[in-house]
Amino acid sequence: MNTHDYIVIGSGVAGLYAALLARDHGNVVLLTKGAIDDTNTKYAQGGIAAAVGRDDSPELHLRDTIAAGAGLVDEVAARVLAEEAPARIADLARFGVPFDTSHGELALGREAAHSRSRIIHAGGDRTGAHIELSLSGLARLSGITVLEHRLVERLLMEDGRVTGVATLATEGAPLREDFVGRHIILATGGAGQLYGITTNPAVATGDGVALAYHAGAELQDMEFIQFHPTALRMPGVPTFLISEAVRGEGAVLRAVEGPVGRMAGRPFMAEYDPRAELAPRDIVARAIATEMRAAGSSHVFLDVTRLAPEYTAARFPQIYRYCLDHGLDITREPIPVAPAAHYIMGGVRTDVWARTTLPGLYACGEVACTGVHGANRLASNSLLETVVFAKQAVEATLGRAEGDPPALTAETLDLSPSQPVRGETPTLPLLQSIMWEKVGIERTGQGLAAARERLASLAAALPERGDRAALELANLVWVARLVTEAALQRTESRGAHYRSDYPRTDPAWARRITFRKGVRNG
Ligand code: SIN
Repeated sequence: MNTHDYIVIGSGVAGLYAALLARDHGNVVLLTKGAIDDTNTKYAQGGIAAAVGRDDSPELHLRDTIAAGAGLVDEVAARVLAEEAPARIADLARFGVPFDTSHGELALGREAAHSRSRIIHAGGDRTGAHIELSLSGLARLSGITVLEHRLVERLLMEDGRVTGVATLATEGAPLREDFVGRHIILATGGAGQLYGITTNPAVATGDGVALAYHAGAELQDMEFIQFHPTALRMPGVPTFLISEAVRGEGAVLRAVEGPVGRMAGRPFMAEYDPRAELAPRDIVARAIATEMRAAGSSHVFLDVTRLAPEYTAARFPQIYRYCLDHGLDITREPIPVAPAAHYIMGGVRTDVWARTTLPGLYACGEVACTGVHGANRLASNSLLETVVFAKQAVEATLGRAEGDPPALTAETLDLSPSQPVRGETPTLPLLQSIMWEKVGIERTGQGLAAARERLASLAAALPERGDRAALELANLVWVARLVTEAALQRTESRGAHYRSDYPRTDPAWARRITFRKGVRNG
């Protein structure tokens, strides 16, 4: 039996950072289902938000976070986030992350819905890649046991406590092996693969949410999926994030005019929100979707041409190079962009010490839901939450958490699969098209109810056991069901959750939807 003080699941920034802190307090095994750097972290462009500027303060950062979250931000958690941010940035710098500087100080970018320039970045738009490289390099040198190609199939429980994990080797012989640990930290990231158009890589399959759900942990805010307004949309070119920082530097969104896809036209954002390009993400994404529908186009344009070409190439080297490699010189031509699934605000319910409702199990990063983002995450608070709450998790394992861990409060939710009604074989494209069409940027009760039925049917047709692809698909189907269920329940529009049959925000709905697995009655 493999016994460890800490079992960390996931090798993005949340997992790496938690493992690096935990190694001072016990032996640590870090399990990751692919290669160590096969994570969402490395695709992060914009940066990390922290109130370190002379004109800034954690109080202002807190206020912006609360405003973006559309009435659902947990203020206690958001205060921890904003107040701990500068210290965590200092830690990352000590761990070797080469943040960009200007005149001897951290260079600070601007992003939408931030009232100050507070986005710290590395390598221009290569922030995530630099963090991943620095922390994974350090992890390998630090006495942490890193096991790549190990997918966690199940959390092991004893007397209501999570005591370990059952794993499947995803490369070589199909080895199954259990690991036992005192503290289990889930850091498995998000679930962007619910949708065919996403900024997330193939690994973002909601594994941690599904694992925690099946073990009986509470989940919350699952209906809130953030669609990033500007992902590159060119025929035959993989979806690629065009950072919000580009708009922060002054790029303008323009409608498609004339022959579709040929010319960039009127700047439209001011017609939707006085903050124009710097309105919160949900507003910008919906405005773009409206313009696309009106023009019958697959995209709008993001126009960067008013910035000096040398500046664009230096500030956004990755975006500039990617587009150029696909025949588009963004310093001369507008960029075709459209919204893409980007981030899930919901996840495994935790308190500010990353404690879940299951003793022994902690969660941090995108898999977790502290309530810090409410209904709509503020740009560049995601990398920040990973380090802030990974640190809180390790502190909690040392007995430094204040107050009791979160108690079970939720209604149980019976998601027993129905009989497969259509004889459909569950496949990733099928799941993704149901989600995009019926549980996407705009939702209706009718569409959600249809999705609920089809997803239940897909769940019934899932195999009992399988290889990595089969397990990932099963995780996605369960996460999809949870998202759909919560979206059906929330009969209003708020933040990233937009119901065209309930277009208004209803003050009576200023509460979270929380649930955990019901008792199967079939
Ligand atoms: C971006 O660079 O636009 C993404 C940053 C984020 O999701 O916070």
